[in-house]
Amino acid sequence: MRNIDETNITEAVIARFDRCDNPRLKEVLSALVRHLHDLVREVKLTEDEWMQGIQFLTATGQMCDDKRQEFILLSDTLGVSMLTVALNQKRPPGATEATVFGPFHVDDAPQLPAGSDLARGAPGEPLFVDVEVVDLQGRPVAGAEVDVWQADEEGLYDVQRPELGSARRARGVLHTDADGRTNFRSIVPTAYPVPTDGPVGRMLVATGRHPWRPAHVHFMIRAEGFRPLITHIFRDPDPYLESDVVFGVRSSLIGRFEHHAQGPRLDRPYWTLAQRFVLAP
Ligand code: BEZ
Ligand code: FE
Repeated sequence: MRNIDETNITEAVIARFDRCDNPRLKEVLSALVRHLHDLVREVKLTEDEWMQGIQFLTATGQMCDDKRQEFILLSDTLGVSMLTVALNQKRPPGATEATVFGPFHVDDAPQLPAGSDLARGAPGEPLFVDVEVVDLQGRPVAGAEVDVWQADEEGLYDVQRPELGSARRARGVLHTDADGRTNFRSIVPTAYPVPTDGPVGRMLVATGRHPWRPAHVHFMIRAEGFRPLITHIFRDPDPYLESDVVFGVRSSLIGRFEHHAQGPRLDRPYWTLAQRFVLAP
């Protein structure tokens, strides 16, 4: 086909996928081309803007390494991650809702017995968490894996602190007992900004957006016969619950964090959280 112009180029490109023998790939790429072309037409993209876009995506790729995933951060801050979770992680009424995974989970977190102190020296006010995992009928789920991770009081995950090397803190993996329960000590979460030293940070500044996530603790819960649950528990009040930079807050995920001035668990101020997770089969 010759003499391609703005009226026929979209169909011309999509037609090139005619011999693609993977129907899903064909469907996704055809839609991608259609939406990209519509975008260019809708905003009448200039050549300068096209080049700025190319440079932005190039910088996003160059920022990525085994510890930093700037493309996921871009997806998160543009709401693409949460949209994908919302579409794929629907659960029956009563089951705990899922939210974004985020980039700070590690596969080699320490396996810890109930009652452990996950903080392992991470700065923050003490927090005692009692976890209960149940099914949709409220029956305990024994032997569930409860994988927990969170930022410290300064808003940093262990993997964001080069001085820690591969040491792990403020994270750990526990298992529920016959009553579906486990418990641990950690630190109370605080709000923190997503990394802003890359192109995504520049995009946030350029669009007048703040980079903050409301205070939360991450949980991934897995048990045989149940859908894995990736979620957070948020702390209220928090100034960013209505404007989470990655759009991950759900009202049902706000936990009952209680402050205690003193005793009975410690003779200084501390927090408690009793959290029930309901797994879907
Ligand atoms: C997080 O909560 O760890 C997170 C999620 C998305 C982007 C950055 C951080
Ligand atoms: Fe987080």
